[in-house]
Amino acid sequence: MAKENGTGPVRVDLGRRSYEIRIGAGLIGDAGTHAAPLIAGREVAVVTDENVARHHLAKLRDSFERVGVSIACKTLRPGEDTKSWSELQSVVGWLLSRRIERNGLIVALGGGVVGDLAGFAAAILRRGVACVQIPTSLLAQVDSSVGGKTGINVEEGKNLVGAFHQPSLVLCDLEALDTLPKREFLSGYAEVAKYGLLGDRRFFEWLEGNGQAMLKGNRVALGHAVRRSCSIKAEVVADDEREHGRRSLLNLGHTFCHALEAATGYSDRLRHGEGVAIGCCLAFEASLRLGYCSPDEPARVRAHFRRMGMKSALSDVPGPLPSAAALMDLMRQDKKVVGGKRRFILAKAIGDAFVCDDADEDIIRRMLAEELALASPQ
Ligand code: GLY
Repeated sequence: MAKENGTGPVRVDLGRRSYEIRIGAGLIGDAGTHAAPLIAGREVAVVTDENVARHHLAKLRDSFERVGVSIACKTLRPGEDTKSWSELQSVVGWLLSRRIERNGLIVALGGGVVGDLAGFAAAILRRGVACVQIPTSLLAQVDSSVGGKTGINVEEGKNLVGAFHQPSLVLCDLEALDTLPKREFLSGYAEVAKYGLLGDRRFFEWLEGNGQAMLKGNRVALGHAVRRSCSIKAEVVADDEREHGRRSLLNLGHTFCHALEAATGYSDRLRHGEGVAIGCCLAFEASLRLGYCSPDEPARVRAHFRRMGMKSALSDVPGPLPSAAALMDLMRQDKKVVGGKRRFILAKAIGDAFVCDDADEDIIRRMLAEELALASPQ
């Protein structure tokens, strides 16, 4: 993976659709100035949720008013249920009622749910309106706000309806991370660690030394981690925007995660990032059993996650889980299924992941069965 570019913005190079990810403390309070070159009219549409609005909306409004722009705001209920057809319809209807035109601007202020929903609304409103992502959770800053994946959940599964719609600008305000509850922070941290695991061993080693400082809110450490994560994602997205190849690596841990999320009913029993953490541990364990990596590697991943206080095994999921065969079945609905065959992201070592379309599924099923037996010993 390429090295990052110091302290300036991270650039996502996509020709005419290139954009910057700006990272720093206090960016929400300056968002109007950052977004000003993208604003054609006198009003922008902000989509947010009740929790985020309480902490950040007044600052955002002031920042736009200082550059002579007012904001119209749609405040949604927090939670994954909001990423639905009905809320999408409501947001798009509201944008039309505010007469947001083709050259208008939509600002997504919030975590992954707000970013995905508002980004999708921006993608389909008048066949595409510009969107500024202002992610307020760690997970959204390092993953969902970058790269243009937008969408909603449907009865058949998560994120199964959506569009690629790159933002025009991403503002990662490190101050927003101050108010995150620990569980949510660690959920995002799993996506940070994922970047080290998939392509940058030195970054993973840095996290082993600095993860606790991040957890305590050390801004310098947080800034470095967000920047390095975004740099890796930007490079991968610039290379393979539509996930025909290399972008699949960003799904390390996600095949297992999506099955676990479905098995737990997308409930509070398991947050997405918690599923990613367990999924990464399972992906490394599977890599060991399939003969791709040495035993030290999965052990090291699990040890780091445990030291951080994260979930790292099926036994960390509260409540019952379905059988290994049922979990394998749940992986079939995954977007990463190709020609009916499950696609796994496996690793030869920490920092060296690869896409595997022909993994021996019996070995993976047996591994899950053994992990499940540990989760609920008879
Ligand atoms: N979250 C994985 C991706 O954006 O491709």
